[in-house]
This record gives sequence, structure tokens and C-alpha cells, in this order.
Amino acid sequence: MPLVMPIYGTRPEAIKMAPIVQALKVSDMECFVTVTGQHRHMLDQVNELFDIVPDADLNIIQPRQTLSSVLVKTIDGLDQLFAANRPDAVVVQGDTTTSTAAAIAAFYHSIPVVHVEAGLRSGDLFSPFPEEANRKITSQVASLHLAPTQVSKANLLRENVRPRNIVVTGNTVIDALLATVGKLVPFGDPNLERVGAEGTKVLLVTTHRRENQGDTMRGIGRALARLADADDDLTIVFPVHKNPAVREAVLPPLAGKRNVIITEPLAYGEFTRMLSLATIVLTDSGGVQEEAPSLGKPVLVMRDNTERPEAVAAGTVRLIGTDEHRIVAEVLRLLHDEKHFVSMANAVNPYGDGNAAKRTIAAIAEMLGVGTRIDEFGV
Ligand code: UD1
Ligand code: UDP
Repeated sequence: MPLVMPIYGTRPEAIKMAPIVQALKVSDMECFVTVTGQHRHMLDQVNELFDIVPDADLNIIQPRQTLSSVLVKTIDGLDQLFAANRPDAVVVQGDTTTSTAAAIAAFYHSIPVVHVEAGLRSGDLFSPFPEEANRKITSQVASLHLAPTQVSKANLLRENVRPRNIVVTGNTVIDALLATVGKLVPFGDPNLERVGAEGTKVLLVTTHRRENQGDTMRGIGRALARLADADDDLTIVFPVHKNPAVREAVLPPLAGKRNVIITEPLAYGEFTRMLSLATIVLTDSGGVQEEAPSLGKPVLVMRDNTERPEAVAAGTVRLIGTDEHRIVAEVLRLLHDEKHFVSMANAVNPYGDGNAAKRTIAAIAEMLGVGTRIDEFGV
């Protein structure tokens, strides 16, 4: 049996890799799960939910870690692991430093790299930073490019990736979402159980982007405080990323606000339940931009560009930038202009149909000579 090694390190990679790991475990291939531990609590939370016990854990996390330390420790740790286990293929997901470091390490060992969520491009090397560069580097060393959509496939073709090496699978985040969202898990924080009762409006917020940290994120904190003051009937739910740089910037203006609920990162089941309760989603997250549209939630994205244009084109996602005044104005407009709200609240599924992991496994099996591909997503 060929040995396939999924490698991941952060929360979004864990969520998007979980359906693949589960499918690999019941396939004709052997699965050896390696985590780098770039994240700790937020990574372990996801593995526990999906019953995944890693076979190897590099445990590299440090408080306020630098990009270089994540890169160096990942490559160094994998060097030893590859020598000991010799996988037939390595699977990496997305655009984190874990995924790019793992791709480089595998390439140096002449191990084929399978890139899940390949071909996303914002067109700006510095936004998102460093993710746009990370995913372009991974594309250079990957053998199999699993593009979530036709848009991402077209980006790869423009960069001269051979069509034979690209498969459009859909995004596995939709597999994960569909497996989780209906479960109605209880909230760990009792305050969350009352959210959305009696038809009150809910603004669900997440923010963590490296290029937004500092002054921009302080502005996001002030915008949330102004929104809390502007509308007493609005509840703002804000699960805050573990990064201390995020917390220091965004939290001070929110102290003492009665209608702002600040929580630790929610376990994925709780987060998807909160997504389905939300009236509006305000975020700079990649994954949330993909999930919320499939639940018909209007999404305001605090960025100037996106590598996920599909839901913008469908009208459910709107790019609003990061200016404090614009954030306040765009949320208030959605809250008070019914026509505008209805025009954005469309359930659309441009990112997947729940079968991305199946297509992923079939494409890997074909590459390793133990299976055949199945029909692509969206054709
Ligand atoms: C990382 C990824 C980013 C992804 C994001 C998802 C890179 C360069 N960045 O950014 O692409 O969108 O994850 O959330 O790969 N921390 C903890 N516990 C945790 C997680 C983080 O304490 O479970 C703290 C640590 O102090 C750590 C810091 O957060 O040093 C930053 O984590 P890091 O992974 O370097 O950056 P993120 O901003 O999380
Ligand atoms: N998420 C979660 N708990 C939270 C916030 C987000 O489980 O408190 C999930 C969310 O559903 C999505 C993923 O985390 O699938 C997105 O992760 P993040 O925003 O950290 O990274 P990005 O997608 O921007 O890389």
C-alpha cells in the first residue's frame, strides 16, 4: 500500500484536511498524519472534533513566533521524519507557512507534493501576507494541483501548470461544514446560548490577518465599539484569535460593552452553529468567506482584495477594506436597508458540493497507480 502523509499545522488547514484524512483512512492507501504544531490549542481543537490522532507532531509553536522560525523548524523536523518514514506522497493544504515549508521539504526529498486548495491568487504579492507568496511557491514544487474551482484552475493554467496535473475538486471546507453544521452542539460559553433569541440581530466577527495587525486592527476594534453603541439591539459575537498581537490591538476599545460577547476561539462545531445564527458576518478570514455564503449569510470582508472572487461575483460577499468609518457604515447599511440585506443574503455554493475529499483521494490514488480519477467539481 502506498504511504500518504498529510501535513498541516494551523486551524484552517486542520479543518480542510480533516475530510481528506478521514477518507484516506478507509482507502487503499496508508495514511500517516503529521502535524507541525504551528498552532496548538486551535489545531488540537479541530483534531479532537474529527477524531484525528496525529502519528507525528513536531510541536514547533512559540509565543509570537516569526515566519522564519516556523519555516526553519518545519523543514528541519520533516527532514528527519521523511528519512525515517519515506512517504510516497505528501499532502499539503492552502497557503500557511507550515504548508509551504512542508512542500519544500518534500520536494528536497524528491517526494511528490499534492497541493490541496491550489491556484488561489489575489494578484498582490503582499496581500494577504505572506500567504500569496506561500501558495505561489508551493505551486512551483507541487506534482498534483487540486484546484477548488474553475477560477483557481484558470490561474494555474495561466502560470503554465500542465492541465494533466490539475484536478478541480471543490473545496474540502464545504465537506467539513456539511458534516458539522447540523449537529447543534452546545456552546461552552452560556452567554452564547441566548444569542439570536427573540429575533435580535447578530454580527459575527473574526479577524487575524497579519497585514491588518497594528493600527488597522486598532481601527477595527474602534469600529466594533461604535457599532455596539449605535445599535442596542445588535449583539456582536467575537471569538478572538489566540495571537497576542491581535488581542492587544482589537480588544481595548471593546472593554465593558454590554452587547459585545468576546470569547476564546470557538470549537469548529460551535463556530458553524454561530455562523448559522448570525445575521451578518464581518471577517478577514479565508475559510469564513467560503463557509458563510453557503449558509446564505451576507459577508463583509475587511480586505482590499480577495483570492476568493466567486462569492463576490455571486453577490453574497462584499469587499469593504479596513477603514474604521467604512466598516461602521457598511454594517449599519446592511442592518437598516432591508433591500440591500436581501440582495446579499443568498445561499450560494461556488466552493464545493461536499464531495471534494472523494475527488481528492481519487486523484491521489491515480497519481500513485492505485485508482482512477472521478468527475470534477462544477462540470
Ligand atoms: C496563521 C497562518 C495564516 C492563517 C492563520 C489561521 C502563516 C504565516 N500564517 O497565522 O495563513 O490564516 O494561521 O488562523 O502561516 N497562538 C497560540 N495558540 C494557537 C495559535 C496561535 O498561542 O493555537 C499564538 C502564538 O503566540 C503564535 C501566534 O498566535 O506565535 C501567531 O500564530 P501564527 O501561526 O504564527 O500566525 P497566525 O496569525 O495564526
Ligand atoms: N473558526 C473556528 N472557530 C472560530 C473562528 C473560526 O472554528 O472561533 C473556523 C472557521 O469556521 C473556518 C476557519 O476557522 O473554517 C478559518 O480559520 P482562520 O480564519 O483562522 O484562517 P483562514 O481561513 O483565514 O486561513
